[in-house]
Amino acid sequence: MTIATRTLGKAGPVVGAIGLGCMGMSEKYGDDAERDDRQSHEVLRRALDLGITLIDTADAYGPYTNEVLVGAGLGSRRHEAFLATKCGLVPGPGGKERTRDGRPEYVRAAIDASLRRLGTDHVDLWQLHRVDPDVPLQETWGAMAEQVTAGKVRFLGLSEVNVEQLAEAHAMHPVATVQSELSLWTRDPLAEVLPWCEAHGAGFLPFSPLGRGFLTGTVTASTIGGQDFRAHNPRFTPEAMDANTAIVTSVASVAERIGATAAQVALAWVLAQGPHVVPIPGTKKLRWLEQNAAAAALSLSAEDITELDALPAPVGARY
Ligand SMILES: NC(=O)c1ccc[n+]([C@@H]2O[C@H](COP(=O)([O-])OP(=O)(O)OC[C@H]3O[C@@H](n4cnc5c(N)ncnc54)[C@H](OP(=O)(O)O)[C@@H]3O)[C@@H](O)[C@H]2O)c1
Repeated sequence: MTIATRTLGKAGPVVGAIGLGCMGMSEKYGDDAERDDRQSHEVLRRALDLGITLIDTADAYGPYTNEVLVGAGLGSRRHEAFLATKCGLVPGPGGKERTRDGRPEYVRAAIDASLRRLGTDHVDLWQLHRVDPDVPLQETWGAMAEQVTAGKVRFLGLSEVNVEQLAEAHAMHPVATVQSELSLWTRDPLAEVLPWCEAHGAGFLPFSPLGRGFLTGTVTASTIGGQDFRAHNPRFTPEAMDANTAIVTSVASVAERIGATAAQVALAWVLAQGPHVVPIPGTKKLRWLEQNAAAAALSLSAEDITELDALPAPVGARY
């Protein structure tokens, strides 16, 4: 059994309705001791078995190790994936602080480095991780578009942008996708960016669709160790988590009523925002991958959606 497919934009590429975010296989959630590349490789191959074809990574993840992990995990099955990576955020010493770099010379070098790490001759989707405020977007985007002409990249995407930036880039080279945070507790893109994507034939890829795990109901203060990125995130302070428990309780109650898990309800709500939406939940565990895949077949009733739409805003900024 494979999951349903969706078209990214009006006539764009066809991918599994749910993708796989690979960042957590190398950093951010849990402690380093939890990470197991062999298990992550299994997750990647099982994803392809399930029809989860959009595989999302970035040069900065790791730093610089996540693309290697993903390339090795896909191995000879690379052609079954719609492989998406990113450039534009440069990890500093120790890999912690990231600075933006949109200079054309950086962009040109970045694609070659990504292809080398991924062990492939092209990526299906190349995304600008963040716009560099010190470089005109047209210069960055123009250098990215050159790589399409060179055959190193099939489609271009942007991440965390506004509609003015989208219009500027799209006038130069089609924006195939926008990747921004969208979930039951982060709804900013619904106002302008999602409608822009629909109107301009672009796909929308919600990142952190599970609220960095919180919306699944499995995260508590005691599960977040010192190495975990969430230990320093405003929505995960003990006070914020206490306040935000009301959100998870409501999601869990919808889930119980329809015989699903809270994670599946969170993904089904995101999928319900439009046919051009393909969420990329992140996991390094087979059981959660399988559970997330099953959400592609879950349809929420109008009553469920109304109830979820009415959830309170969270306590704590998203970064
Ligand atoms: N463009 C950007 O700036 C940007 C920013 C952030 C993320 N991203 C991309 O978006 C992807 C997804 O976002 P994310 O990883 O930040 O957050 P997410 O998908 O909202 O949540 C990931 C967390 O949820 C857990 N999880 C996954 N499925 C679960 C399930 N069914 N039940 C319980 N827990 C579950 C994972 O645990 P385990 O790790 O233990 O499996 C992990 O801790 C990333 O991997 C990355 O590719 C992009």
